[in-house]
Amino acid sequence: MNVLKDFAIDIDSGEVASRLQCSREQEESVREIIEQEIKNCQPIIKPQITLEKLKITNIKGNMVLLENGIVFESVFMSQKLAHCQYIVVSVSTLGLEIDDYIRNLFDDDDYLRGLAADNIAISALGSLGKILWERLVDELRGTGIGMTSRLSPGDTGWELSQQHKLFKCFDNSEDIGVTLIDSGMMMPIKSSSAVYGFGDGIGITRFGHVCSECTMKDCTYRIIEKHEVIVNKGSQKTVLNVEHGDNLFEVLRKNKLLENFPCGGNGTCGKCKVKITFGVPKPSPEDENHLTSEELESGVRLACKIKIHAPMELSIDGFSYNNDLKIITEGRHSNIIIEPIVNKKHIVLEKTNADDCRSDLQRVADGIGVKYLGAGLSTLRELSTKLWESEYDFTATTYNNTLICIENGDTEIEKYGIAADIGTTTVVCYLVDLLSGRTLDVEAQANSQVAYGADVISRIGYTSENLGGTKILKDLIVGQINEIIGCLSQRSGITSLQIYNMTVSGNTTMIHLLLGLTTKNIALAPFTPVITANADFKAEEVGLNINGIVSILPSIASYVGSDITAGILTCGMMESDKHSLLIDLGTNGEITLGNKSGLIACSVAAGPAFEGGNIKYGVAGIKGAISKVELKKQNWCTTIGGASACGICGSGVLDTVSELLKYGIIDETGRMASKESIIDQALAQRLIEDGGVRMFVLEQETALGYPIAFTQKDVREVQLAKAAISAGIQMLLKERGIGFEDIEKVYIAGGFGNFMNMESAVNIGLIPRELRDKTVSAGNTSGAGAIEYLLSKTSRKKAAQIADSASYIELSNKKDFQNYYIDAMTFE
Ligand code: FES
Repeated sequence: MNVLKDFAIDIDSGEVASRLQCSREQEESVREIIEQEIKNCQPIIKPQITLEKLKITNIKGNMVLLENGIVFESVFMSQKLAHCQYIVVSVSTLGLEIDDYIRNLFDDDDYLRGLAADNIAISALGSLGKILWERLVDELRGTGIGMTSRLSPGDTGWELSQQHKLFKCFDNSEDIGVTLIDSGMMMPIKSSSAVYGFGDGIGITRFGHVCSECTMKDCTYRIIEKHEVIVNKGSQKTVLNVEHGDNLFEVLRKNKLLENFPCGGNGTCGKCKVKITFGVPKPSPEDENHLTSEELESGVRLACKIKIHAPMELSIDGFSYNNDLKIITEGRHSNIIIEPIVNKKHIVLEKTNADDCRSDLQRVADGIGVKYLGAGLSTLRELSTKLWESEYDFTATTYNNTLICIENGDTEIEKYGIAADIGTTTVVCYLVDLLSGRTLDVEAQANSQVAYGADVISRIGYTSENLGGTKILKDLIVGQINEIIGCLSQRSGITSLQIYNMTVSGNTTMIHLLLGLTTKNIALAPFTPVITANADFKAEEVGLNINGIVSILPSIASYVGSDITAGILTCGMMESDKHSLLIDLGTNGEITLGNKSGLIACSVAAGPAFEGGNIKYGVAGIKGAISKVELKKQNWCTTIGGASACGICGSGVLDTVSELLKYGIIDETGRMASKESIIDQALAQRLIEDGGVRMFVLEQETALGYPIAFTQKDVREVQLAKAAISAGIQMLLKERGIGFEDIEKVYIAGGFGNFMNMESAVNIGLIPRELRDKTVSAGNTSGAGAIEYLLSKTSRKKAAQIADSASYIELSNKKDFQNYYIDAMTFE
């Protein structure tokens, strides 16, 4: 016999509240009573577990025979223990004191406290069961022996009358600390008994009594397995029924209610905020770490750290990522001759006759005027029928001398393509008329994979840690693009059958995920992608709903993708003798330097500061984001769309640091000044400390219901980002052996470049002062490059040349980079 004592017992106040099933009106006061009673009960709970291990000598019919001669008589037990060699019998108790305490509360007519204490004891008994389960499982590690679920007389098909047999399994029942009375009840009341079966290779059953399998439907302790969760988003109210213990983040993600999970639910980014208005759980350590005291008090919590144990109501207003995300779709375009790879030719053929023995495919090739014409098997299978149906008056569509479809009559003027730019944050698709080269329509959306992490590393992490993760992310992006195709065709009055080619640019990870390729090696040194070359796939192979070919632009390396190739192409960097720089600012800052004679590129881990990531109140460029800050203006902050502030986006972050520097609120090392050292009283008032963290309040009245501030840590994040970019630029110049004066143009790609204030960028040292007048915002160069690739065969060749001639520099093994990086940390 083994006796275990002295445990720390965990009591979950949420679970106790859930058992009490109090109404909303009662919630707050009941919560208070529960917290008080937990304090009262904890010292008088005296937990003890007594164990006995016994061999099973035989199992026959409804009988389980034990080595000590005891026989459990139960069909249920003989089935459950069928593959077991031995059992462990346990009796657990909380001791007599807690029983007396609960009884006294009821005797004093203090029913609410009595009920609270009673349910606290039930919860404590549950924790004791978990402690036992964990100890038993620990002993099994590496043995190959498995364990059944907890089997107790009276609760899962095993008669309560068998309780006395369980107690007889102990040699000395006095040491158990529990007595069994005639009715089968145990004294102290807050005690429980159980049997666990153990057998070779049977697997370990998860912890917990499974209420859904239990036959005692009217059991008082039956756990309510579903909870109502009400989610308010603007005027929309969604009522969900979720399972006890579900993670709120998974629930919101599954129901597409919140998609801002930059760290993929690890509790490290602090961005998955929700405001809980009913059923507010205790703050988790991650909440304490990321949220201010005002946020905590107002019920804000991180969704990824909430397990739902009780009904809950919450609001996600102000935290929604997809809330009018401002996406830049315009990009610079070079002058190109429209010569798409897709060709359409109207052909009228003679009907087949005895004098013409040519094959159908040859007749089509001759009609087009080419010697050789290829075709896929599916096209060939229906070729004869299609020709016959068209009465030999048809239009043949080819892609690079391969027949892709036959349409009745003359459809030459209906020739469309889509250029897609798949970014980590956004997806932009352009519907293009391949005859005129005109962009007919654009659809821009937040990338639906954002719910699985804001950056490529989080998404790669998701695919490696979750079975089928690659497929989940692939299906998401393919599904989203198909929806966009549907929308673009419907708005333009065409069908997806008239879209014959889709060109795609994006970073290497996004391209891999679109194709369903493994990404795990992209994150591991030596960072080997599956493919970087340009590639063509049948749309149906990729799963995209167009009638032709998906063309992927070539990438340069794992961290310099086809979005950069597209940017170099559209900026014409390889057309000039003079050097130019292309800087794409994102979580990874990709920098390319070069001219006609060649290109070098690198990628620096700039962090997501300029996308609002890792910034306490950082948000993407959504409506209400503070996008401009001028401390000497009457209204310091300008928000996107003039809406009430909900956070700070990249351009606002840049301005804030520049302004803090300008007015001496931070010094050149980035340190925030003390309140006393600021002369300007209006500014000094805005400097506060919360939990020992110094911060500067930007906006008092906000959509969040509490102030938005810029913290000391935020300043550090910006320092890291700008130092990485600046060091990357200097490394490329050094490698190329040129100086700032040799650079003719600096192209800033992406949305951030479009909105950033150049003065602020120069002031904090993000853009070297020497390059100030050479810098232009190039907009969405990835999208513009994809359009060019769609419209011009010459541009396709150029893109291949770019990818071939560009050399990638891995900075992690360059000592000079570290030196430049450290030097660039300060604000000069
Ligand atoms: Fe919850 Fe990052 S902290 S998703």
